[in-house]
Amino acid sequence: MAFPEIRPRRLRYRASVRELVRENRLTPSSFIMPLFLVPGENIKTEISALPGQFHFSVDKVIAEVQEASSLGIHNFILFGIPDYKDADGSSSWDDNGIIQRATRALKEEFPKLNFIADLCFCEYTDHGHCGVLHNTNSAGNEEMDVENDKTLENLVKQAISLCRSGTDIIAPSGNMDGMVKAIRQGLDSSGFSNIPIMSYAVKYHSAFYGPFKEAVKSAPSFGDRQTYQMDPANSREAIKEVLIDIEEGADMVMVKPALSYLDIIYQVKNITNVPVAAYNVSGEYSIIKCAANAGLINHDRTMLEVLTSIKRAGADIIITYFAKDASKLI
Ligand code: PBG
Ligand code: ZN
Repeated sequence: MAFPEIRPRRLRYRASVRELVRENRLTPSSFIMPLFLVPGENIKTEISALPGQFHFSVDKVIAEVQEASSLGIHNFILFGIPDYKDADGSSSWDDNGIIQRATRALKEEFPKLNFIADLCFCEYTDHGHCGVLHNTNSAGNEEMDVENDKTLENLVKQAISLCRSGTDIIAPSGNMDGMVKAIRQGLDSSGFSNIPIMSYAVKYHSAFYGPFKEAVKSAPSFGDRQTYQMDPANSREAIKEVLIDIEEGADMVMVKPALSYLDIIYQVKNITNVPVAAYNVSGEYSIIKCAANAGLINHDRTMLEVLTSIKRAGADIIITYFAKDASKLI
């Protein structure tokens, strides 16, 4: 008796079985939702560069977080437009700064939720760079650069002030050398040894940050951030950055942006044993919103496909402006 030839088969699963064998799932509890804070009261204004995202005053952000948490979102990253800007970005370590005020209010209202602080200076400096400059008068000067060690000192001040206001996770994004180590030491010696560091370990010099810079008015007034952000052509350098940050004490590492860098997320996941976060950045979000508004693509399907691809590449955590939209569907 002849046995039938054994062939690979593609089974036509019914929906419930498709769900059973699904390899990657999106969950609201692995999303981090960005929030944009502004000084003042009673403000909730849509950000034109980020359709569906808003500038909130501290009093108005409470309802937004309430709604998100009812959808299962437990993690938020806060960005702010500060009360004042100066050359060093000193409003970022003011205990009464915009993020500090927002964090205190949010932690009082929602002690169980996590509020993450982005640690950088581009939102707080009048020149829009991510640290202290060598020569702040050198508009247009090719020699302009960020002074690494002075910036580290300020980052530690910023981190400690944010922890005092109740921040649950510190996320340094400025790409300074020795950043994670300096912050870890600063936190440990100030009674915040239990606060994790989520490092923006791999941060590319990307055009996809465009809408964000519009939202926080942080576009550099001259030059760009090429000297301290990674070249999109490099991948081995990403591995180096990740290993350095973990060595320095990073508890989680982030790849930013996500979509043009899925290969990087995949590699980082394979060489580390810490949670990997991916930042689905502003340009990646606005492109989908605009194309969907123009009737070119299906919003919900595109969104879920993109978020799933980030998950499939290996991200444990996804920072996304789609957090609420996606959580309503999954
Ligand atoms: C730095 C920071 C930026 C983003 C997150 N944190 C701006 C930058 O790196 O230039 C961009 C996020 C996005 O585009 O959504 N504070
Ligand atoms: Zn910055």
